[in-house]
Amino acid sequence: MSSAAPTPLTARRSGPMAGQIRVPGDKSISHRALILGAMTVGETTVSGLLEGEDVLNTAKAMRALGAKLERLGDGNWRIHGVGVGGFAQPAGPLDFGNSGTGCRLVIGAAAGCGITVTFDGDASLRSRPMRRVLDPLEKMGARVVSAADGGRLPLTLQGASDPLPLEYESPVPSAQLKSAVLLAGLAAPGETTVIEAEATRDHTEKLLKHFGARIVSKPYGDHGRRITLQGQPELSPVHVTVPADPSSAAFPLVAALIVPGSELTLESVMLNPLRTGLFTTLREMGASIEELDKKDEGEETANLRVRTSKLKGVDVPAARAPSMIDEYLILAVAAAFAEGDTRMRGLKELRVKESDRLEATAEMLRVNGVKVDIEGDDMIVHGMGTTGVPGGGEVKTHMDHRIAMSALMMGLASIGPVRIDDSAFIATSFPGFVETMRGLGAELS
Ligand code: S3P
Repeated sequence: MSSAAPTPLTARRSGPMAGQIRVPGDKSISHRALILGAMTVGETTVSGLLEGEDVLNTAKAMRALGAKLERLGDGNWRIHGVGVGGFAQPAGPLDFGNSGTGCRLVIGAAAGCGITVTFDGDASLRSRPMRRVLDPLEKMGARVVSAADGGRLPLTLQGASDPLPLEYESPVPSAQLKSAVLLAGLAAPGETTVIEAEATRDHTEKLLKHFGARIVSKPYGDHGRRITLQGQPELSPVHVTVPADPSSAAFPLVAALIVPGSELTLESVMLNPLRTGLFTTLREMGASIEELDKKDEGEETANLRVRTSKLKGVDVPAARAPSMIDEYLILAVAAAFAEGDTRMRGLKELRVKESDRLEATAEMLRVNGVKVDIEGDDMIVHGMGTTGVPGGGEVKTHMDHRIAMSALMMGLASIGPVRIDDSAFIATSFPGFVETMRGLGAELS
């Protein structure tokens, strides 16, 4: 995809966003459902899977490692896995495209098998840090055969035939890192423990339990967790229902808040508390977001009814970052339309996402006439309130789907149009985004 010609797109001031939609399945759960299904003997079924490029690359990787995966249509999949420790040597390199999650989780899963695997990705993924996952995996017995500078992709890893269990205190709040260690720990005898000072999304833990593993999570310190997995379980095939992705719902949701006269319902959005920091923050800003028809489908879900709201600037504490780590771009858009300043604290991890999102967010707003300051790891957006967001800028998307979608949402309510240089990467996480938004009333062309 990175070699294709860029496809620019422009968002223009639009009439009200109106309607009821279900955004695609959760990306984090989709990757994990495929990987755990591939590590389970018997037939695992999945419904609601996100069929975006990132997850399809993980599916390809699982096939290359010996699992059978069938795409039945409409987000339904059937998987016949190979069992814990049962991955086969793949015939060639595994290409994860743009996906840090797919790549880091599979590095962990492969590290517990006696196979040698080469991992690669696009220019964005090649620039992202992999040392953070390699460090604990080397302690478990995996060996880096070769890697680019600083342990980056392309990298070749020789997995451990007899992996060792590990107790690991994670130096960064990263669910990908935690998950890589736990997936490697599945093949190790005894207990593998990950300690995180700040709790991150717990989908791996929940799904491991669902597949029958013994895993216990206890509070640790003020905001952290200590997670212990009993290694070498016999995973049992199950059905996984993937709920709608709150990180994808965030885009139409903020569009409805900032485009005057809007009322939108987003169906069955996952409300795992480790993912809902954005909704908390938007409510503090004055957003009208109602939760209707709450359900528990392995994860809590609800229909979210959103109405246009007058927003005010707020101070977002650093402790909230793990529960909204992918949402700062779209929060910055909401903050640009608010009255007063919004300070977002503790955004260090944003620098190592699909792009340097701290710089890219500031740039996205500045080229559209919004003042932004970066002070250390904090970002301050000076809201335009009743003056309005000027718009009129072209935003560089830096191979980052969330920059593309955030910039377009800004253009639906700004005075002048907002153009993005490339919309191609939206397909990594939100297939059908442009058509879905047009169906709600968005002017995108
Ligand atoms: C994810 C974890 C987060 C997040 C990413 C998905 C996951 O990354 O940004 O989009 O599914 O585990 P980090 O683990 O790097 O924080």
